[in-house]
Amino acid sequence: MKFKHGIVLGSFLMASVLACSGPKGESGNPKIGFAVFKYDNTFMSGVRRAVDKAAQGKAVVLTQDSQDQQAVQNDLVDNFLTQGVDALIINPVDRTAAAVLIQKAKAQDVPVVFINREPEEADIASWDRVYYVGARAADSGTMSVEILLDYFKQNPSADLNGDGMIQYVVLTGEPGHQDAVLRTKAYIDTFAASKANGGMGGQELMSDTAMWDRARAQEKMAAMLTSYPDRIEAVLANNDDMALGAIEALKQAGYFGKDGKFMPVVGIDATAPGLDAVENGTLLGTVLNDAASQGTDALNIAVALSNGTDPAAAIAVPLTSADGQSAGRYVWVPYQKVTRENYRNFMNK
Ligand code: GAL
Repeated sequence: MKFKHGIVLGSFLMASVLACSGPKGESGNPKIGFAVFKYDNTFMSGVRRAVDKAAQGKAVVLTQDSQDQQAVQNDLVDNFLTQGVDALIINPVDRTAAAVLIQKAKAQDVPVVFINREPEEADIASWDRVYYVGARAADSGTMSVEILLDYFKQNPSADLNGDGMIQYVVLTGEPGHQDAVLRTKAYIDTFAASKANGGMGGQELMSDTAMWDRARAQEKMAAMLTSYPDRIEAVLANNDDMALGAIEALKQAGYFGKDGKFMPVVGIDATAPGLDAVENGTLLGTVLNDAASQGTDALNIAVALSNGTDPAAAIAVPLTSADGQSAGRYVWVPYQKVTRENYRNFMNK
C-alpha cells in the first residue's frame, strides 16, 4: 500500500504507524490544515468559501485565522503538524517567512501549497513538495489602467485640465505584498506605454497605503482630496475594498450625488460589494481576482499530494515555473477586466 510519499510498508508496521499518527481523517479522506493570514479580509473570505466547497466529499479542511501575525501562524502550523495533517495550504502573513514554514513541514514530509501571498522563488524551489497558487499581479494593474484609458477616450471632458494626461491618485495595499508592488508599478508602466503610443499618459499626484482596508482608504482619500482640490481626475486602488472606501470619501466631498459630479475609480478583485458598486455606477470598473479558481486549485493540489496522485491532473490550468515558461509548481490564475458591460457574468459566483 502507498503511504503518504509512496513508501510500501508491511502491514504490521503500517498498523503501528497509523495508530501513532492517524494521518487521514475519519472518513478516510485527507486532512488538510489551512492557515489564512487573517479572517477579516474580503478577498480571502472568498478563497475560504472556495476551499470549503471544493473539499466537499474529498478532504477534511481545518481552517484557522493567523490574525495577521506570523508568530501566530507558525504556532498554527506546528499544531496542524501535531494533529497529523496530510497537507498544508498556507496564506502567509509575511511572505518572506515561508522558509521557516517549509522547514517545519518538510521535517514531517507534509506537502505545502502557498496561496495569494507569494514566497521567494528560492523558497518554492527548496523542496519539490511546495507549490504556489496565485495570479500575475502586474496584469491586474495593466487592466485597471486600460479601463481608465477607455473611459477617457469615450469621455474627453474627464480630462479636467485638458492636458492630455490623467492626473491620478493611488491607494496601495500592504507595503511589500507582491500585489501592491506589482500592481502599482504596472499602473505607471501602462500609462507610459500608452503615451509612447500616442495615447493619454498619466501623472501620479499622490500614492499612499491603506493596507487593503476600506476604512483606512476612506481617510486617505479624504486627505488626498484636501491636498489636491479639483485636480484629481481618477483614482486607482490596489483592491476593491480600498476603492469602496475612496468612493465613500468622494461621496462626502460631493461626488456621485444628484448634480452628477463623477470620479472614475477602478479597483481590483471583483468582490461582491465591488460588483454591486459597478452596478450602481460608483465604481467605474474592477478586475476579477479569481478567488473561486485559486481556492479550488489549491485544495485540489493539496488533495492530490496527500493521496499520492499527480497534482497536474487535478487542476484545469498547467503547472508552470515562476515565469510561466516551463513546467514547474506554480499555478497562475488569469485576471479578467470587469466593467458595466460584463459585470453580471461575475455576480453570485
Ligand atoms: C490580494 C487581494 C487583496 C487582499 C490581498 C491579501 O490578492 O487583491 O484584496 O485580499 O490579496 O493578501
